[in-house]
Amino acid sequence: MSKDDFTFVRRTYFPTMVFQIDLENPEDLNKDLTEKIYSERIRDQKGISRSNIPALGGWHSHNDLHKSKDYAELVGKIGQATAKLSQNLGYADSHEIKIGTMWSIINPPGGVNRAHVHPGCLWSGVYYIQAPENCGNIEFIEPRTMHLMNQAKYMPNKKRPKECWTKVRFTPVAGRMLIFPSWLYHAVDPNLSEEEGNAANRIIISFNLNQVKKPAKKK
Ligand SMILES: [Fe+2]
Repeated sequence: MSKDDFTFVRRTYFPTMVFQIDLENPEDLNKDLTEKIYSERIRDQKGISRSNIPALGGWHSHNDLHKSKDYAELVGKIGQATAKLSQNLGYADSHEIKIGTMWSIINPPGGVNRAHVHPGCLWSGVYYIQAPENCGNIEFIEPRTMHLMNQAKYMPNKKRPKECWTKVRFTPVAGRMLIFPSWLYHAVDPNLSEEEGNAANRIIISFNLNQVKKPAKKK
């Protein structure tokens, strides 16, 4: 084969970032959160309706869980993760990322979440508390819709380069947090768990994040 008489470089711009954070030994935290979330569902059985479909059993709590001390440990972990994110992306020291809203969703078998975005914030996240096998992957969808209009033909039976994907799915793992741009469309597949009773539930806490000015230091 003759050698190319040119150089060939693929550069990537305007990427879509998803951060993955895995907590060490999350079992006790997850057990505690599970109990608190079930109590909250007993207190507020109807919950609210957002991307969940209540007729399919999906329960969505109110949006202010972060204000309750019951969730302080998780709020602390989210704070650590977002401080790392700010550092990783070179965000200004004068600002910090804060939770604006935080809620829980329980999807029993059959539960799904419609495709949606989270308006009014910078980053959004999800923390998986209970995630049995086949409980529903989260799917992130290509945000540049012009790329969906006319797609190239790719080699069959060969994985496309990541830069050419039009969707990506993450299998939920208990103790894992994902933080993604709030404008990125995402949906949750149906819970097809075959576990018995509550063990079949997909339980998450989700949150919206904004960058706010740090309070002035007291003199
Ligand atoms: Fe969402």
